[in-house]
Amino acid sequence: MILYFSATGNSRHVALAIAAARHDVALSMEEAASPYTARLDLNGHREWGFVFPSYFGGLPAYVLQYLHRMEVLCRPDEQPFTYCVATYGSVVGNPAAQLRRELKACGLRLHAAYAVRMVDVYTPLFDVTNEAANLRREQEAELQIAEIVKAIDQRRTHRVGPLSALIAHCEYGFYRRARRTSAFRLEAARCTGCGLCARHCPEHAIEPDAEGHPVWTKPQCSLCLRCLHHCPAFAIDRGPTSRRHGRYLYGRRAAASEAEE
Ligand SMILES: Cc1cc2nc3c(=O)[nH]c(=O)nc-3n(C[C@H](O)[C@H](O)[C@H](O)COP(=O)(O)O)c2cc1C
Repeated sequence: MILYFSATGNSRHVALAIAAARHDVALSMEEAASPYTARLDLNGHREWGFVFPSYFGGLPAYVLQYLHRMEVLCRPDEQPFTYCVATYGSVVGNPAAQLRRELKACGLRLHAAYAVRMVDVYTPLFDVTNEAANLRREQEAELQIAEIVKAIDQRRTHRVGPLSALIAHCEYGFYRRARRTSAFRLEAARCTGCGLCARHCPEHAIEPDAEGHPVWTKPQCSLCLRCLHHCPAFAIDRGPTSRRHGRYLYGRRAAASEAEE
């Protein structure tokens, strides 16, 4: 069983690709849990994988919340080979350390942690308008995924060095502040009121107003940027830089021309 969280499709692609290669099933954490519980029966599973993006060198808040709710049916002496794959854009950090801690609290182990470099969708900093560069990154990711499939097969483990772990620890401290929803901006003239942003928000942090325009009703969210990248009219951004940087969904070419409209 592979559980994944994905806002813009990178981690979803990796989870589905590994599942296809390993004859496994991939479930999104959103499908696999109710708002209150996330009960998993691991009996009969040979492998258990987690796939998620790295945020500020650590786990997305949504994934941490999921892990806190998770109830696992599994005898510790019969735990399947457990691995995680972090997708990332520039420096992966150490999200596996947090996952390891959460699993340990349930009496379980993380056996291996891998990473795949993909397009960096954090558009407040990174530009996703270069379609050729995105395509190259997507193609390079395929080779990394193939290596991970082999590594899982061989039960190969990989550990993060102490320096990356320290950098990640410091970087994650900035995540909390960055998660404020007040930084989202809506260009009302572009918004068609389709409601996609509210429907797809994993945190249920958006509600449509009378005209169907999004209103952020929680002070913080996971900052997954799904609302920004999925909006068909590119009506949502986090300031002028993120607007210039465009938007991206895995498998769909970057909306460079839309960014210029
Ligand atoms: C809020 C946020 C923070 C991010 N932080 C990092 C980071 O610290 N290091 C990094 O390499 N990539 C970072 N990224 C990029 C994502 O990890 C990367 O694009 C990932 O593949 C997106 O996965 P998804 O398409 O499954 O959502 C960040 C993205 C977001 C939205």
